[in-house]
Amino acid sequence: MSRMWYAVVSTADWRYVMKIVVAPDVQHVAEAAFKVMKNTVSEKKDAVLGLATGSSPEGLYALMAKDHSENGTSYQDVVTYNLDEYVGLPQNHPQSYYTFMHEKLFQYIDVKEENIHIPCGCAQDEEKACHDYENMLAKVRIDLQVLGIGSDGHIAFNEPGTPFDSLVHLVHLKQQTIHDNARFFDHDESKVPTMAITTGLADIMRCRKIILIATGANKAQAVHDMVKGLVSTSCPASILQRHPDTVVFLDEAAASKL
Ligand code: F6R
Repeated sequence: MSRMWYAVVSTADWRYVMKIVVAPDVQHVAEAAFKVMKNTVSEKKDAVLGLATGSSPEGLYALMAKDHSENGTSYQDVVTYNLDEYVGLPQNHPQSYYTFMHEKLFQYIDVKEENIHIPCGCAQDEEKACHDYENMLAKVRIDLQVLGIGSDGHIAFNEPGTPFDSLVHLVHLKQQTIHDNARFFDHDESKVPTMAITTGLADIMRCRKIILIATGANKAQAVHDMVKGLVSTSCPASILQRHPDTVVFLDEAAASKL
């Protein structure tokens, strides 16, 4: 079996480097990312966490749940902010990000319900919902932000073309994202919501520390463009080259084009 390797990779723009951890498989990726999470919540009991949904952080969340049950690591004073939510899905829809977070993580740890923040996808006034979420985010500084990356290079739901100074906003999901996420909707693209509310790239860049998790060959090109491509809105994740403390956790397949 191949070993874990660490690298500080110079990006296309020589002024920046990115920290990369490559693990042999998905489980080792999750374990490596979990160490950062555990350090954060152990050192700062009232840490502010930024959380993502989707397949990428599932292993990390499972380890957080296991660690809470076995070692009692507490999240009582932790505050969480999720990145995004589909527009039009009620909270209790099986594929809402509200449901995802409760099923995969929140039900297993002692985070207080009132400390959980997830954008509202069913607001009557969607622009106001964006504004309200941005106002909440503006009052805090996220200590550790968990990210995945879309196969088109999106982070949160900041699709290609999103300005780097974007704040919380409504987004029309790109066809590629709808196609990728159809696996959560009986593989039926027509069931995937076409819009979402998402935190912006400027919000993400304000976070103190970022861990980005990507696994599988279908992420290899986006990972390459994020790390080695020019910083460009055509790959929104490339802005992370300019973030002072981002660590990218990859399996061999996702790292195969670096
Ligand atoms: C989800 C999110 C998205 C996902 C990305 C990758 O909250 O912000 O950016 O991280 O679409 O999704 P997975 O991990 O399912 O491949």
